[in-house]
Parts: sequence; C-alpha cells; structure tokens
Amino acid sequence: MDDDAKECQYEDPTFFKSVRNYFREYCQCTSIHGFRYFGEKRSYIERAWWFIVFSLVLAGCVIAIREVYEKWIRSPVIVSFATKETPIYSIPFPAVTICPESKTSQALYNHTAMFRKKLMMEELTKEEQRISDYMGLICTNDGYEDSDVYYFSDDFYNTIDEFKCTFPFFYCAYMRKVVDCSELFIPVITDEGICYTFNMLDRTEIYRDRVVQHSDFLSMGNTSANEWNLDDGYGPDIGLDAYPRRALLAGADNSLTIFLLSNRSDLDYTCKGALQGFRVTLHTPMRIPRPSQQYFRVPLNQEVLAAIRPDMILTSTSVKMYNPKKRECYFPQEKTLKYFKIYTSMNCKLECLTNYTLYYCGCVNYFMPSKRQYTKVKRMRYIAMIVLPRQ
Ligand SMILES: *[C@@H]1O[C@H](CO)[C@@H](O)[C@H](O)[C@H]1NC(C)=O
Ligand SMILES: *[C@@H]1O[C@H](CO)[C@@H](O)[C@H](O)[C@H]1NC(C)=O
Ligand SMILES: *[C@@H]1O[C@H](CO)[C@@H](O)[C@H](O)[C@H]1NC(C)=O
Ligand SMILES: *[C@@H]1O[C@H](CO)[C@@H](O)[C@H](O)[C@H]1NC(C)=O
Repeated sequence: MDDDAKECQYEDPTFFKSVRNYFREYCQCTSIHGFRYFGEKRSYIERAWWFIVFSLVLAGCVIAIREVYEKWIRSPVIVSFATKETPIYSIPFPAVTICPESKTSQALYNHTAMFRKKLMMEELTKEEQRISDYMGLICTNDGYEDSDVYYFSDDFYNTIDEFKCTFPFFYCAYMRKVVDCSELFIPVITDEGICYTFNMLDRTEIYRDRVVQHSDFLSMGNTSANEWNLDDGYGPDIGLDAYPRRALLAGADNSLTIFLLSNRSDLDYTCKGALQGFRVTLHTPMRIPRPSQQYFRVPLNQEVLAAIRPDMILTSTSVKMYNPKKRECYFPQEKTLKYFKIYTSMNCKLECLTNYTLYYCGCVNYFMPSKRQYTKVKRMRYIAMIVLPRQ
C-alpha cells in the first residue's frame, strides 16, 4: 500500500512529461487487467506484447457487443408463443358485412338494358345517363367508355340508395335467438356499393367529426360501444347487452345464422359479372370493411358455413418504450389518423389510399372518407389500380 502510494506521486515539469506521468500513474493504480504492464518499466517487446494482447481482447469484446447490438436493432421485439387460453366472450364477435352482387332493383334500373343501349349507340335520356354514370362507379364490368361527368354530389348516395335491391335478409338468428334482421343489419357504404353490416361500431365512433356523414349509412341509433375498447376489452360487469356483441361460448349454438334472398329477376350479369350471390367480409368492429379486397362468396341456392378461429396477440407494456419505427407497429394512442378515431393498420391503409387519391386526382372515391361538404367522386379505377400495390 505504502509503495503504491509513493509510486503514484510524481512531479511534473513539462506538459508531455506530465501526461506520461499521469498515464503511468493511471496504469499503476487502475484495476483494469493488463493496463498495469504498459506503465511498468519493462522492455519494449514485453510492453508491445501486452499491448497486442490487450488490443485483441478489446477487439473481441467490441465485435461481440456489436453483434448483440445489431441483433437488437434488427428485431427489438420478439414474438413468443406462450399460448394462453382466453375465453371467447372476452373478444367481440366479428363484424359481418354482406354485399349483394345485384346492385340495383331491375324494375327501377336495368343495367343490362342500359349497357345494350350504349353498345348500340342509342341516345340515353338525361336521367338514364345520370344513373348509369353513378352505377358505373359500382359495377366493375360496365365495358363502355367513361362518361364526361367527373364530379358527383350527395345525389349519388341518395340515388344508389333509392335504386338498391330490396333488403336481402329473410331470417336472422343470433345465439339461437331469432332477431328482426333490420335490427341486426344496417346499411353501410363500402367499395362494393351498399352493403349490410352486423356488429360494427357506429360511424361516429369510427370516423372523426370532420368526416362528412353520407345520409344515414352506418348509424346505429343509440347503440354505442361504451362498454368496450380495443385496448382493455370489455368492462368487468357489463352483462349480456354489451355492444359490440360477443358470443358466450364457441360452437354452432352461439353463431349468427342468416338466410339471404335474391330476387331472380334482379340478377344482373353485366354489372358484377357472371358470379352472382353475396360477398361476405368478416372484420373487426372498428374497421371499415373493403369487400372488394377481402371476402368470401355465398353462392345462390347453397349453404355456406364459416368457422372463425381468433388469434389474439397481446403486447407487453415494456414494448411501448421502443421507438415505433424499431418495433414496427403502433399502439392505438400513438398514431392519430386524420379521418379515423381509432388507429388500426387497415384504417390507416384506407386513409393512405385516400391521401394518394386526393393527391393524384384532387378528389376521392365514393367510399373513402372525406371532409368536403360535397363529396366529389370521379371514375378512377385506373388510378386505384396503380396505387394499391404500393400499400
Ligand atoms: C322481385 O322482382 C319482381 C319484378 O321486379 C317484383 O315484382 C317482386 O316484388 C320482387 N320480389 C321481391 C320479394 O322483392
Ligand atoms: C333488362 O334488360 C334486358 C335487356 O334489354 C332484358 O332482357 C331484361 O328482361 C330486362 N330485365 C327486366 C327485369 O326488365
Ligand atoms: C334508444 O334506447 C332506448 C332505451 O334503450 C329505447 O327506448 C329507444 O327506443 C332507443 N332509440 C332509438 C332511436 O333506437
Ligand atoms: C393523410 O394526409 C393528412 C394531411 O393531408 C395527414 O395528416 C395524414 O397523416 C395522412 N394520412 C396517412 C395515413 O398518411
């Protein structure tokens, strides 16, 4: 101890000397392995040897640390499948959106006749022209040139509402209880025209207030989702009437059963093509469905059963500390969307498509959220086809 103390005391006449002395002092007093030998009065070869050994060890450490760091940067969040059984009643029953392929009642508007007239270069009346322009946005198969009309007002929604087929539901039962279908299914505007949706949240809970409300679509009267939210699920003591609805047990007894009717005379093969029937989309209650992208078909004269196996992925709260860019996902509160109140990746994609459309066309398609007083709609299938793959 005494020796060390003596050795550690130095006098320092010049700057370089004092630096050298301090270094030597540091080497002798430090507890880092190997450093001691640099400072001691030893032969150059010996000191060089120690220096090389020390450098190699340091390099080894740095490489090992770098590898761990890179792995952390690449995938900071690890998904582990520690599966835990969750009762089915802790998650909502999926929202079910059903779109008839017959878009208009033929008695009111005969798309095939209009199609034929256009092929034959016959003159359409002003009213026929107006409606066929509107239907051209919904029918994928119109086959004739785009019209000169580029902007449609709210009149569009009123018209497709007026000309739609009769309500296609004939019998509905939820958890074995027969329910009035018009209570369960409410009309909603999607990219397939007017569809009917079950168990979705009210539009005031999905869209922000600045989004213009088109007529009465997606408004559920006074059903609200107060008892449920995406983060915490259902509250602890909210009985059976919670909305969105939930199934109490798994199995066919707790299912949604529907019989659908399609009027034979309303089948129209020029509007949506040869495949008739219905499109069904299952989705979460706070998401705007896009039945043109994700659906399964219910053909005519057939029974279709769909079993749902939900997968719930929970995130530990410690993941919140990471930068969203690194963890590659957002929590609902972290990202605010311009048109939607609740952030989900599908809503975000729809908003993104809306932004692109607005940017390239100066208008949006009829099913996209918009804050203008009059929704300006343009025929823009081609633009949408270019934009979609970028998502
Ligand atoms: C089916 O269509 C025909 C002709 O358009 C109409 O008279 C009849 O009322 C429709 N039936 C239903 C159940 O809507
Ligand atoms: C619709 O028009 C087509 C072609 O003109 C015709 O064959 C068909 O009977 C019409 N449908 C109805 C329900 O009037
Ligand atoms: C709202 O709810 C109340 C009580 O639950 C009911 O009496 C009333 O008819 C509902 N109103 C509408 C518009 O659905
Ligand atoms: C869409 O554009 C608005 C502003 O024009 C912006 O605030 C919003 O974040 C954009 N949405 C997405 C999903 O990029």
